[in-house]
Amino acid sequence: MKCSLLITGLVSLAIACQAKMLRLKLEQQGGNPVVDAFDSLVSHSGSDDSAQTPFSREQLGYPSRHHIPINKNEYYSQTVTVELGNPPQSFRLGLDLSSGNSYVVSSECIQIACMGSRMYNASASRTNHRDGRTFTLPDSPQGIISMDTLYIGGIEVPHQEFGEALSFRFFGPGLFGFDGSLGLAYDDNRPGSSVTGRFSFVSSLMASRDVDQPVFTLYLGSTRPNGPTGELTIGGLDHRRFSGPMIFHNIVKRGQWVVSLDGATFQNGDRVSRILFDRNETRAMVNPDYPFIHLANQAAYHVNERLAATRKNNREYYHRPCERIEELEPVAITIQRYSYWFTPQEYFIKSRDGVTCISIFQQIDGTTDDERVARGYDAVLGAVFLQKYYSAYDYSSHRIGFGLAT
Ligand SMILES: *[C@@H]1O[C@H](CO)[C@@H](O)[C@H](O)[C@H]1NC(C)=O
Ligand SMILES: *[C@@H]1O[C@H](CO)[C@@H](O)[C@H](O)[C@H]1NC(C)=O
Repeated sequence: MKCSLLITGLVSLAIACQAKMLRLKLEQQGGNPVVDAFDSLVSHSGSDDSAQTPFSREQLGYPSRHHIPINKNEYYSQTVTVELGNPPQSFRLGLDLSSGNSYVVSSECIQIACMGSRMYNASASRTNHRDGRTFTLPDSPQGIISMDTLYIGGIEVPHQEFGEALSFRFFGPGLFGFDGSLGLAYDDNRPGSSVTGRFSFVSSLMASRDVDQPVFTLYLGSTRPNGPTGELTIGGLDHRRFSGPMIFHNIVKRGQWVVSLDGATFQNGDRVSRILFDRNETRAMVNPDYPFIHLANQAAYHVNERLAATRKNNREYYHRPCERIEELEPVAITIQRYSYWFTPQEYFIKSRDGVTCISIFQQIDGTTDDERVARGYDAVLGAVFLQKYYSAYDYSSHRIGFGLAT
């Protein structure tokens, strides 16, 4: 922690402390999820089947990096740039909030899936070390565990372990514009451990003297023209990136960035009313790769019904005419008794022609109860939520904080 003594006025004395933290610029691969949703609607309507289903779920897709075949245009990922090796080789890593594993594509990969990615060449690095261990990630890449110097956010971490991916079951990261993955979740049973190395990148950083606090934050960037761009900080909160309080919520299960939702809150003048979510609808994963606020089926239906947004079948997005949306009430997602508000202009997004408005409250997907139990969440707080609310992820207190982004 760097502290400086400030003498303000004649008598008042203050100590200003700036946490030691790393700052990494976020680059979005694959465009803007919300804007693209409309581009694909506009360009598809009239041409084929989707003319009848202007809000086709398939057109935007539900980003799932590894499981299902998806169209390149339907996938969004925030990446940061890091370097590995000596001399350093540069890689764009997608943020992975659901695992602690970090890997890069290996130059020894001969699959087509590895094309399009920059590849890590172990023999071109003087500091590479391999001890013969391998890894297999449940949701796709397999490879070998390597050790090398990591350069991240201006600091150097010697002997960092990571995965070198040699094969992918479906797609490699090159299809989505990146070269590997930066795991930001953790495993509480084995603190700091990851499948692609003994220590995750973040736990190595936490153990170093270069960061103060066991926390990372996500700022997805200002929506104002020429406003600040997105940033990942590791080691502390950036107080310039939010105003008002930061409210913390305990996570549902240690190691996963999942919080429990109470419901949706509606403010009609002085009257406040709620739609409480069912117990099976409440676990929300925080994940900027998803565009919207994706709710469980019944929850999405009831919230949209209240806003007069409909869909003809479950392939469509909830939508309504834009006419008179400004007369609608503010709506909040309520997390452990604290409400995160959206105005009608924020929770409906206008198409270019200004006629049709798409709701930011959408159904998560068509999975069954059992599938949802297995994956551990029922809902997702995606990019629209994280753009409005700056988020902080606290490894030691097992909680996530949200503050109004500036
Ligand atoms: C990796 O680096 C070595 C040493 O510089 C070089 O001989 C080899 O061709 C490189 N491999 C690939 C696949 O680029
Ligand atoms: C909640 O999920 C459990 C287990 O999947 C299921 O048996 C139960 O019927 C669900 N309850 C409701 C109200 O949907």
